[in-house]
Amino acid sequence: MAAGSAAAASVMLAGRALGQSGGVRAEGHPMPGGVELPDTPPRPKRADSVGYAIVGLGGYALNQMMPRFERAERAHIAALVSGNPDKLNKVGDAYGVPAGSRYSYDNFAEIASNESVDAVYIVLPSGLHAEWTEKAFAAGKHVLCEKPMALSSAECERMIAAAQRANRRLMIAYRCHFEPYNMQAMELMDQDAVGTLRMIRGEQSYRMGPTPPAENWRVNRALGGRGPLEDYGIYGLQAALYLSGEMPESVAAASYQPAGDPRFAEIAAHVASQLRFPSGAVAQLATSYDSAGINEVDARGTTGALLMQPATGYSGNNMVLEMGRESREFTPGDSTVQFARQLDHLADAIRDGSDIRTPGEMGLRDVRLMEAIYAAAESRRTIMLNPDGTMRS
Ligand SMILES: NC(=O)c1ccc[n+]([C@@H]2O[C@H](COP(=O)([O-])OP(=O)(O)OC[C@H]3O[C@@H](n4cnc5c(N)ncnc54)[C@H](OP(=O)(O)O)[C@@H]3O)[C@@H](O)[C@H]2O)c1
Repeated sequence: MAAGSAAAASVMLAGRALGQSGGVRAEGHPMPGGVELPDTPPRPKRADSVGYAIVGLGGYALNQMMPRFERAERAHIAALVSGNPDKLNKVGDAYGVPAGSRYSYDNFAEIASNESVDAVYIVLPSGLHAEWTEKAFAAGKHVLCEKPMALSSAECERMIAAAQRANRRLMIAYRCHFEPYNMQAMELMDQDAVGTLRMIRGEQSYRMGPTPPAENWRVNRALGGRGPLEDYGIYGLQAALYLSGEMPESVAAASYQPAGDPRFAEIAAHVASQLRFPSGAVAQLATSYDSAGINEVDARGTTGALLMQPATGYSGNNMVLEMGRESREFTPGDSTVQFARQLDHLADAIRDGSDIRTPGEMGLRDVRLMEAIYAAAESRRTIMLNPDGTMRS
């Protein structure tokens, strides 16, 4: 049934396929590098464990999230969805997913009748998040959607409306809200550990290898957005909001798209923005796909500075609080718990009806701010914002 259709599905291993709507469509890709499949399939720990269907067996799903289900208390992998039938079967066998719970993008709708699946985890390229989130809600499932929530605020609004219509929960996979260093940073800022906040600096960059939009969704406008902001700079933007506890009231920005570089045929190479908050604090954010790697967030106030580098990694984060000549290093715990905590958080929301720390509304807010940043860069004007992140006309 599901597995048979998956095996029959065509696989496009490179290139960009246009869907009927003229937008991009989901298609299979080869097994990513570095994947270690489990020797023994992990088992659910509790009778009320939430079954997740993983949609898109790419690098992040296979190398980071799927191995971390083993550490979740109330979540397990119940189904897989992929456009590459060989990979689907190999991964399905290793994770103990029954053949009837393996789907292709073509027969995904059949998941509606699979009672072992409570939630769908969308881990596809960003330009496909909205379409597949809506399909998951149409199938009556809850949704964990990777960041960025989508590539436009209109898509985010449709996703939230679809969740409401289906009466299902929607969570954005902002893992830093479950990561010990960032959680401690939020607490320290709540306790005014740096005095009154004045400045935040966020820098997220790495150097993308030589790759054109047809081969790499991150540099493809329809799949990845307008630049590194949606994929990587979003961490600095998020940190500026959760460390300040404020929404910006204005934004100015600049971006740069070099000519003659296939990586940047469709997107910007760097995006820099300045946010001003109602308190008077400012944030300076820069992100690049063409600069040596950095992942740093600093928050500086009247009496001290909180310095995080790496700030938002999967592991190996560092955090120091400087106050004059004194400096205190924090080691609040193993960062790798963030993945399982995130899975359990949605499971608790589904089973207990508890609040979601990173709901669709947060994803929408951030996409609105990114739209404002690009609008400021394009118009070369400072844009004034409403408290919900929309641009003032
Ligand atoms: N939270 C984080 O720290 C974090 C880190 C990295 C990535 N992410 C997010 O995770 C998502 C996936 O990123 P990734 O790094 O895993 O990407 P990736 O390695 O390129 O994998 C994407 C997978 O999506 C599927 N896919 C379906 N249609 C596709 C298309 N038209 N083009 C490319 N792939 C297509 C393929 O799976 P099949 O072959 O199985 O069909 C592919 O392997 C993105 O939303 C990204 O922002 C989050």
